[in-house]
Order: sequence, then structure tokens, then C-alpha cells
Amino acid sequence: MAVLASFVWVLVGCISAAVAEDSNISDLYPPFWEESPEELSDYRLEDGKHIINPWVFTDRMGLYRILLNRTAPYFASYGPENEQNLFWGLPLQFGWQHSSGRLADPTGKTDCGYGPVNPLCVSVDSWWADANYFLSVIPFLAAVDSGVLGITSDQFTILPPPQDQWKFCYSVSDCKELVGETMDSWNTFFEYMKLPSSDFDGLLKNLWAAHTSSLGYPLSVFEDRYAYYSDQESKFEKNWAIAVDYIAAAYYPTTLIRTHGFQKGLPPRILLDTDIAPFIADFTATQNTVLLSLTALGDTDRLTGSFSLTAWKILMSSKFAREQFLKALETLLGTST
Ligand SMILES: *[C@@H]1O[C@H](CO)[C@@H](O)[C@H](O)[C@H]1NC(C)=O
Ligand SMILES: *[C@@H]1O[C@H](CO)[C@@H](O)[C@H](O)[C@H]1NC(C)=O
Repeated sequence: MAVLASFVWVLVGCISAAVAEDSNISDLYPPFWEESPEELSDYRLEDGKHIINPWVFTDRMGLYRILLNRTAPYFASYGPENEQNLFWGLPLQFGWQHSSGRLADPTGKTDCGYGPVNPLCVSVDSWWADANYFLSVIPFLAAVDSGVLGITSDQFTILPPPQDQWKFCYSVSDCKELVGETMDSWNTFFEYMKLPSSDFDGLLKNLWAAHTSSLGYPLSVFEDRYAYYSDQESKFEKNWAIAVDYIAAAYYPTTLIRTHGFQKGLPPRILLDTDIAPFIADFTATQNTVLLSLTALGDTDRLTGSFSLTAWKILMSSKFAREQFLKALETLLGTST
């Protein structure tokens, strides 16, 4: 257990290292944040409906921007400038996927996602983009359904990708059919958020339940995408998916500053077959360590048939243990608490 804990510590541990008190909050926003729609009316209008194309980076980012904007009142009591909004984790992750080249066409057959011609294109062949679809469009549609956005289903249309259309869903009713349980868990989150009695720990619990639920479907449906990547990158993808379960069990608070710091430890570009952590020359020491820890965590999980996750969940089921965990990793990094 101690060994496992140390993998997770290192993994989540780089988080707070980068937190600088002097930073301007807006410097931490994901790429193209200000250029993305902040209201439904910022999307193009056609035949009385706003057209959202989640295969364009700024269109998908706009879903997050609307979500962050409209949920701000529910997080206002936890800190200023919407910094404590737990939805920041999602757009920051999507931003990292973009800046590290992970949303571009991995087959190289099209120029989708490659600058300067088509930098905002999000490729349907990208494993990252496909998984993220269920962490962007789905929470957005569930938010529409639960009424927190002040938007109704008949006001917009979500465009399909150029291929594999049947693997996705495009409306509240459509998605309730394809990924009903996941829609339910996001709805549960939003209903909880609206309760006057909701608290931060409860928000985290419900958010991570919805987050992990969102990944179930794409992890099984887009397995064919692994073939487009180097062995190192596809191993990283699989280990990342495993790590999310451990991070979720620890109720990692996906606030703006924390998540921004955490992401500095993630691989800044797609991995090549020759990239073996901790010896990747153009990665920082932290990035090498995080990648190595992810591999160790993934191996442990597979070796124990996920028993390690069960054990981790039991350990993390107490609020006291979770607090000690966060405190320990912040001490580990020499940052103040
Ligand atoms: C933060 O950044 C914005 C936009 O760049 C700028 O207008 C503002 O003055 C900055 N605030 C601080 C405290 O540096
Ligand atoms: C939400 O969006 C509106 C309209 O663009 C803006 O005036 C407001 O400041 C935003 N609120 C937050 C918390 O970002």
C-alpha cells in the first residue's frame, strides 16, 4: 500500500509545485479561452438554431466556457474569480491535449489539427478527442437537461464528426439512449449542486462519479485508435485512464490553480517509441517522474487485477485520509498549506 500511495503521491504531487501567488488568474486559462463562445448566441445561427461543431477546438471549448460561466454562482462561496469552480479540470485537460498535439489526426492522413493550415481542427481519429467528447458534450447536454444553463434543447444543433457518426450522440434524448447511466450521473451532480445544503466534498464526490462514468463507454468503443500511436503513447493512454480512477478516488480538487500546476507534469508532446522515462531529454524532471509513476501505477493495477484500486478506494473512503493525502503531497513539494 505504501508503494502504491507513493506512485499516486508523485503523480498528483507535482500539482501544487507550480502554484505561484503572484500569477494573474487569467494567465492560467486554457488556450483560445477568450476566443471561445461564452454564450450560446456566440455560435453561428442557422435556421433558428445555433450550430455547435465539437470537432472545432474553440466550439468545444465554448461548451466549457458556458458551463464555467453558468455554474460560477454555485462555487462563489468557496473563493473569488471562479477559481474554485471544479469544472476547470475539464477545459484545462482539453487545452493540454491541444497544446501537446494530441487532438491532431494521429494517422497523418489529413491536416486536421496541424498548424498553420488547420490548427483548430479536432480529429475524430484522436483517442484523446474521442474520450474528451464524453467529458464535454455529455456534461453540457446534462446541464441543459437539468436546467442550470438557461438553454433549451431546441436552441442548438450539435454537428457530427466526418466519420464514425454512430459512435457518438448529439442531443439530450440521443445521449440518454447511448450513455444513459452517464447522463444520469451528470444530472445527479447538477441536482446536488443546486441544493442549498451542498458542500465542497459532496460536489467533488458527485463530480468524480460522473467523470469516471463518462469514460466507460469511450474506453471500450475507441480501442481501435490505439493502433495509430507509438507503443509508448498508447501505453500512456491506457495508464492515464487507470490513473483517473485513482485520482477520482482521492477526490482530487480540480480547481483552476491546482489543475494548472498538475498539468505541468504531463507529457508536453505525443510520445515516440524511443521515449523511455525517466530518460526523456526534452522533458522536465517532473514530467519524467510523472510518466514513470504512471507506468508503475498502471503495471500495479494490471498485476493485481485492480485489487490495488479497491484497496486505494477503501483507504480514500475516509475524509481524514484524503485530507492527509493532500497535505502529505503538498509537504512533499514544499508548498505551504
Ligand atoms: C491580468 O491580465 C489582464 C489581461 O492580460 C490585465 O488586464 C490585468 O491588468 C492583469 N492583472 C494583474 C493583477 O496583473
Ligand atoms: C458570464 O458571462 C457574462 C456574459 O458574457 C459575463 O458578463 C459575466 O461576467 C460572466 N461571469 C463569469 C463569472 O465569468
